[in-house]
Amino acid sequence: MSLDIRAFIFDLDGVITDTAEYHFLAWKRLADEEGIPFTRQDNEALRGVSRRESLNRMLKGRPIDEATAQNYMQRKNDYYVASLSEITPAAVLPGAINLLDEAHAAGILIGMGSASKNARPVLDKLGIAYKFDAIGDGYSVVNTKPAPDLFIWTAGRLGVSPTQAVVFEDAEAGVAAALTGGFWAVGIGTADVGKAHLVLPDLANAHAKEIVAALGS
Ligand code: G6P
Ligand code: MG
Repeated sequence: MSLDIRAFIFDLDGVITDTAEYHFLAWKRLADEEGIPFTRQDNEALRGVSRRESLNRMLKGRPIDEATAQNYMQRKNDYYVASLSEITPAAVLPGAINLLDEAHAAGILIGMGSASKNARPVLDKLGIAYKFDAIGDGYSVVNTKPAPDLFIWTAGRLGVSPTQAVVFEDAEAGVAAALTGGFWAVGIGTADVGKAHLVLPDLANAHAKEIVAALGS
């Protein structure tokens, strides 16, 4: 079966660049300051979900009032934003730019579907914002992953339907969002992305035409 793929929609953190690690380190610093046990393993559950949901998962049921929640989220974001000063174009993960360029050359539109409110500044620091035909971020929709809304919003901006688009995701919540929305899903990495139609360890050696062919076989 030959698929009619017209767009690739990429998650950012953990797919295009390794800011997933910076998100972890920022939550870890906050957790340590507050005496909340928080491990790298715990952090896997935070991949792809919103800042608020990340806080909920980090707290694991510990009750806090709203003012404290706002304080924690602000501090975490301050730590995260400070770490972005380290980001340069060299932080684009191997293979990502080649895949974007192959897709563009093949007439496939490029979208961003990141839950992060920091997605645009990160893309700017990476120097690749101009490669995206539409950018959906943490400001675009109310319902965040695993709801499909962000990918549907981005597909709408690109003018394609979900069955014409492939979502690249490193998070269980993101793969779930893609599948619920009726998109093709490529899982990236070692997190719980096994429900995706195709799983790749990373984007190194990922090729646009091979991916479309593999999804259609
Ligand atoms: C992405 C990341 C999450 C992060 C979320 C919100 O989904 O994978 O780790 O918590 O965005 O990011 P923000 O920059 O808005 O706090
Ligand atoms: Mg991610």
